[in-house]
Amino acid sequence: MEIKVTRATQTGTRPKDEDLGFGTVFTDHMFVMDYEEGKGWMDPRIEPFSDFSMSPAAMVFHYGQAIFEGLKAYKTPDGKIQLFRARDNFARMNRSAKGLCIPEIDVDLVMDGMKQLIKLEEKWIPETLGTALYIRPTIIASDPFLGVRSSFTFKFFIILSSVGAYYAQGLNPVKIWVSKDHVRAVRGGVGEFKTAGNYAASLLAGEKAKEEGYVQVMWLDALEMKYIEEVGAMNIFFIINGELVTPDLSGSILPGITRYSVLALAEKWGMKVQERKVSIDELFEAHENGTLTEVFGSGTAAVISPVGEIRYGDRVMNIGDGTPGETSMKFYDALTGIQYGKEEDTEGWIETIE
Ligand code: PLP
Ligand code: COI
Repeated sequence: MEIKVTRATQTGTRPKDEDLGFGTVFTDHMFVMDYEEGKGWMDPRIEPFSDFSMSPAAMVFHYGQAIFEGLKAYKTPDGKIQLFRARDNFARMNRSAKGLCIPEIDVDLVMDGMKQLIKLEEKWIPETLGTALYIRPTIIASDPFLGVRSSFTFKFFIILSSVGAYYAQGLNPVKIWVSKDHVRAVRGGVGEFKTAGNYAASLLAGEKAKEEGYVQVMWLDALEMKYIEEVGAMNIFFIINGELVTPDLSGSILPGITRYSVLALAEKWGMKVQERKVSIDELFEAHENGTLTEVFGSGTAAVISPVGEIRYGDRVMNIGDGTPGETSMKFYDALTGIQYGKEEDTEGWIETIE
């Protein structure tokens, strides 16, 4: 399918790398296509970044039929543009689509549209380690209809944002708070899909965590409220007895692309890896007997984020000495080395935009 390109007549300027936060700076263009039942996805186009005009009755506003992805493009020292495991993000988007009754997309078409868009927006890609061009593909239900059913029309779009670190702390260890009263998702629900409502459901607990001085919530399983699932915007890893431990995919956790990448690197390095249930009690025990040596989160926005403190009710554990742990740094260096083209891509994770 041909992708029509309409260029913006006015364009913006990228802020300096050191002034970039997360998610506030948008580029000049976006990729858009529409879906109609019986016709399929159509009219793929790149056009100036602008507001959408939609009916206030559009189903996405009422019933939250919306899915999205998050991935990044990086600038290498020799000026190439690299995408990290982008096809895996669109494969996950298609799994989310199935879960939310949204028509699947053609991965080759959206990869093509995304690459053309990024090439056009090359000047918006920052270059310093820790900065990147964040890519946000999204699908929303657009039928103006108040009955509850799946929409017959949808809009797919990709917007781009020049970003710095997700956490203001950068690579310094973050403090996370375990919710005793709230759950994010339950097995059989939509927790394993990247759908808007999961994030809406996380806000109240997130506010409570912030009031207490913590940056994100660590969720426990919804059935027993005992086993650790994940953190607001990242999957979670522990080093216990020198082994890499992470919660197994329970059906209610987002299967992170960074999580898979950490597991693959660990196996390659000959680390002992366990994907299994980890209870919050086991974690406190391991901390008390000194076998828990590191905790870190993994995610596209967060990259590898060391965790320095975990609070669960009145119990607080401090991990490490306030600086990033050795294993966390090893994963951070290996992943960013590949992403920014400073290390060889031995795993076949990189696609270059020519
Ligand atoms: N868990 C949640 C809830 C997330 O929002 C994210 C971010 O995308 C992740 C985990 C990590 O996933 P990925 O590594 O694919 O970015
Ligand atoms: C990501 O890492 O891409 C996320 O989705 C995190 C958050 C901004 C929702």
